[in-house]
Amino acid sequence: MIDNIEFTHQQARAFQPQRLSAPRDFMIPKIISDNKDEKPLILEIGAGKGKHALSFALQNPDKHLIAIERTRNKFDAFSKLATLQDLSNLDAIHADAIAWTVHALKPNSVAKIFILYPNPEQHNPNQQWLNMPFFEFLLSRLQVGGEIILATNIQSYMDNAEHQAAKLWCLPNNRYRVPVDSQRTHFEVKYLARQEVCWELSIRKPKWYKTRFDNWQA
Ligand SMILES: C[S@@+](CC[C@H](N)C(=O)[O-])C[C@H]1O[C@@H](n2cnc3c(N)ncnc32)[C@H](O)[C@@H]1O
Repeated sequence: MIDNIEFTHQQARAFQPQRLSAPRDFMIPKIISDNKDEKPLILEIGAGKGKHALSFALQNPDKHLIAIERTRNKFDAFSKLATLQDLSNLDAIHADAIAWTVHALKPNSVAKIFILYPNPEQHNPNQQWLNMPFFEFLLSRLQVGGEIILATNIQSYMDNAEHQAAKLWCLPNNRYRVPVDSQRTHFEVKYLARQEVCWELSIRKPKWYKTRFDNWQA
């Protein structure tokens, strides 16, 4: 690892990818080593039962989506539907997205990352995605010009994410209200039906962005 270059962000504590073992039954999807058509690679973290993943893959045949879910029963529901839908541009993965990302993804390789309605982690804010040292690793996998979309119904989660994006990660970002008729995920449908406000944060990786992991590969 390179210790003495200047990074673009303010994160002092380094994520330690070398400490993570590969997930059980780990296999690298074919698209990662053999992307003949050069389809933009899209990642979804915490895909739940796959509502967003299945419709995104159907509507975007020119892109390849890797959607990861770690909870067994949700993944099983997702996997059943994915098998029925049989889309060649979707990989449904049962794994912890952190270990999986470390072992599978090359630097600067992902065009867009969706994190839709993550667990709120209100009692354990260190586990919120933008508070984790892992977020630096995730940024290293994102292509220049690539985008991270984070959605939540928890105002304090969004306030913190927006603050961390700007102040800790030094990244350009925009915050929006999710339209009331949006139906991307099961949680989104549930929250909007209860007339809760849902927010979305769009974060872009600029050309000059540097992380500790830009040359790191498992
Ligand atoms: C609140 S649910 C939202 C599910 C779905 N995105 C939706 O909006 O309907 C959050 C999901 O993220 C998954 N998750 C949390 N941390 C994860 C991780 N490190 N790797 C993979 N999945 C994770 C959980 O298992 C859970 O299913």
